[in-house]
Formats: sequence, C-alpha cells, structure tokens
Amino acid sequence: MDQEQGFCPHRCELNAFPTIDDKPLLMKPTTSPKTYRVKSFGCQMNVYDGERMAEMLGERGIVPAPEGEEADLVVLNTCHIREKAAEKVYSDIGRLTKAGREAGKEPLIAVAGCVAQAEGEEIMKRSPAVSMVVGPQAYHRLPEMLDRAVQGERATDTDMPAIAKFAALPERRRTNPASFLTVQEGCDKFCTYCVVPYTRGAEISRPYADLVTEAKKLVDAGAKEITLLGQNVSAWGGEDEKGHRVGLAGLIHDLAKVEGLARIRYTTSHPADMDGDLIAAHGEIEKLMPFLHLPVQAGSDRVLKAMNRSHTAESYLKLLDRFRAARPDLALSGDFIVGFPGETDAEFAETLALVDEVRYAQAFSFKYSPRPGTPAATMDGQVAKEVMDDRLQRLQAALNRDQLAFNEASVGRTCEVLVERKGKHAGQWLGKTPWLQSAWFEGDAAIGDLVQVELLEAGPNSLSAKLRETVAA
Ligand code: 5AD
Ligand code: SF4
Repeated sequence: MDQEQGFCPHRCELNAFPTIDDKPLLMKPTTSPKTYRVKSFGCQMNVYDGERMAEMLGERGIVPAPEGEEADLVVLNTCHIREKAAEKVYSDIGRLTKAGREAGKEPLIAVAGCVAQAEGEEIMKRSPAVSMVVGPQAYHRLPEMLDRAVQGERATDTDMPAIAKFAALPERRRTNPASFLTVQEGCDKFCTYCVVPYTRGAEISRPYADLVTEAKKLVDAGAKEITLLGQNVSAWGGEDEKGHRVGLAGLIHDLAKVEGLARIRYTTSHPADMDGDLIAAHGEIEKLMPFLHLPVQAGSDRVLKAMNRSHTAESYLKLLDRFRAARPDLALSGDFIVGFPGETDAEFAETLALVDEVRYAQAFSFKYSPRPGTPAATMDGQVAKEVMDDRLQRLQAALNRDQLAFNEASVGRTCEVLVERKGKHAGQWLGKTPWLQSAWFEGDAAIGDLVQVELLEAGPNSLSAKLRETVAA
C-alpha cells in the first residue's frame, strides 16, 4: 500500500507524523547496553511487538535484565488508546530516570508503540532522557537507532512503511505455549472516538506464506496455541499457495493443519467484516476455540451511528445468533464505551439491555476518553465524569454478574486446559480452558501441557479444577 512518507495514510488532520530526524540531537555518548527490559502496555499486539523487539535485542547479545535490577536499556512500548494509558509514559520516564540516577547509571530509554507514533516530537521535547522514539511500523530499525543512541544521538522514527518490519525481524525461536501472531495491522473503520487508524495506519494483511511459516516456527519453539492478532483481524485477506484468494477463515483452516498446533484463536474483530465462512469455521474446525471477542461498544443505535460503527444493536445480535448456531457453546466477549458524547440515560439503558440479552462470558468496558484529533473529541454533549463513573459501575456490575454466571455454569464440565504458568503455591498450575477462562489445579504437570481437568468451583475471575489426565506434552 502506498503511504506518503511522514503523513497519515488517510491525510487526516493528524498528519503531522514526524519521520526519522536527520539533525542529530545530542546526548552524552554511552557504552553499549548489556541488559534490556521491554515494558509493553495496552493490547495484545503490543505484547507481540514487545516480544519481537526483545528478539532483536537478543540477536545483538543484549540479555533481559534480571528481576529487580535496573536495565541498561528500557523500551517503553506504549498505548495511546485512552488518555490514562498515554499519560503512563511520562510518569514511567520520570521514574526510570530517578531510579537510574540513584543507582548511578541512567538507562538508555526508547519509547515505542502508539504514543511514540502520535506524540514523537512532543516526547523528545518534553523528555530529554529519551534517546529513541520509534513507531509501531518502524521498530525493526531499533538496532540502528541504538547504535546512534550509544554515540549520543537522539533519533525519532515514526515512518509507516507498509509491513516492511516483518521481513527485517529475526526468526521466532522462543515463545510461550499460548503465543500471538500478528496477521493484520491497522484499521480503516474510523470509529469517531478511536486513535488506532491514525497510530497504526491503514489496514494491511501480512502475506499468507509468511504467516504459515511463522506459525510453524512458533510451534517448533513450543507454542500449542496461537492467537491471530489484528486491529481488525477479520479483514485479513491473502492468496494461498495455489493462488486462491482466502479470508481469515481460509487461513485458520490451513493453520489448523499445522502439526503440533492444538488451539487457534483470533482477535479483534469488527461486526462488519464477519463473513459466512468465518461463522462456519467455528462449527467446522476443532482447533478453533469456542470463543469470540466481538466489540459492540454501545446498545443505542443513535450512539452507534455517532460512533461510526456500521452496525445496529439488532444487526449485532443477529450476527451473534449466527455464530451461536454454528457453535452452540461459544463464549462471547465484547468491548463497551460508556459516556460517549451525547449519550443519554435512556441510551445507556439500551447498553444494559443488550448486555442482559447477550450474557457475555467476559467483557472490557471503558469510560469514553477524548483523543486529540478524533472527531468525537470535539463533539457537543461531552458527558460529565461523575455520570461516566456511575454508568461504568452499573455496566461492570452487570458484566461481572454474567461472567460469574458463565463460570458457574461450567462447573462439573470436563475440559482441556493449556498450562501456561505455575500458580502461587507449590504444585499449583494455571492455564486456560477452551472458553478462555483461567483455571488452576494441583498435580503433576508442566508448562505447555494440555491436560484434562474437571472444573470444580467457580469464582468471578477463575475456576478451580481437578486434574484428570495429560493429553500431550
Ligand atoms: N475512549 C474509551 N475507550 C476507547 N476504546 C477505543 N477508543 C476509546 C476511547 N477514545 C476502547 C474500545 C475498543 C477498545 C480496544 O478500546 O472499546 O474496542
Ligand atoms: Fe478503533 Fe476498532 Fe473502530 Fe478500528 S474498528 S477505529 S480499531 S475501535
């Protein structure tokens, strides 16, 4: 996809994305870092990007800083989706510089992620301790920037070359049993509250063959489960090895053939891009887990229209019916925003009514946060904080009620759990059920095992379980 260098691909008012700064801003030269820490905030794609940055630093012989020790290089992989998330960057920089000064060595600081993309120049101006600012499409250039930083040069790279970074990243060699694979990036939906189309750019799909290769590498490295990631993952499209056009469903069908891969998930989707093939895939592919994260944002059609969400409450509910018909035990998840500009009490009540109807297994809910440059930030009828607080509390009470009910309804079920980590106590293990519930049990197991358990007792956020048998190590 053609993208004019340094400009927002949509030529919007936010087009002040700075490119690599060739006029070097100087700091004190320093020695090459030996240890690093990558701190990722926000979404799962940031977790994925954080892992890839860590891999690049690893290739250079830089190792993760031991727990409790200050690192020589800190990468803050930031999130810009809501104001609070963005503010964290500056408080983190302050904390790092203070800790570094006290320990007698200030770390090299790189700011990556969506705040870097949106506020690159601002960060450089406000925070002299930062020597590298690198956007989400440019982080493959981090090693180059690091060389310059060691020489005392400060550099900003918020260029948006279409998925060039993937080709430049090292092969996957290490991973968790449940791992992420970015298949699609960017978003063309332009919901009026959202910064993603500006910070992550236009929708772009990674090529089919690259994804199959990366999935196999992840499995070789120990992955049992892969979650396919995209800001709008259901918009993924590509050509398979026979040259046929395939959508996300086709990709999932083919990834399900990868030996050793036991589970596939995908997130996040937009209701407008969910096609019949993807719905059918939930009934056809055993490895595709019975879980769907499908954000609705609000239950009022007027609010949805003002948000530029191309669905109504009714069309969303009908879509869910089709998914449930294909996979009756599907667990549903969603995202909600309360207090969008102009939202009335009656309109908020429609969100609660939708929740009552869907009965989500889990969900994320947020207070509307005005993001500079997005259309909603300047809309009339900004809702008072206290009103938002009250609505969020009421919505979360309903969502928590349903999450607990979903967990309680699972008690007595025998199911498979993928063991992801040790629990707090000796002999305790934590993993995920097919419905993405956290389950813990005691017994003979190891990280990466797929075990059969019986779900015993339900809490709001997890279930206790009894080990039955190990399926595969
Ligand atoms: N304010 C509050 N929540 C937001 N989200 C996105 N932008 C905003 C905003 N400006 C939420 C949406 C989205 C999730 C990732 O974050 O619910 O689905
Ligand atoms: Fe943001 Fe999601 Fe809307 Fe895209 S579809 S603009 S990522 S909320």
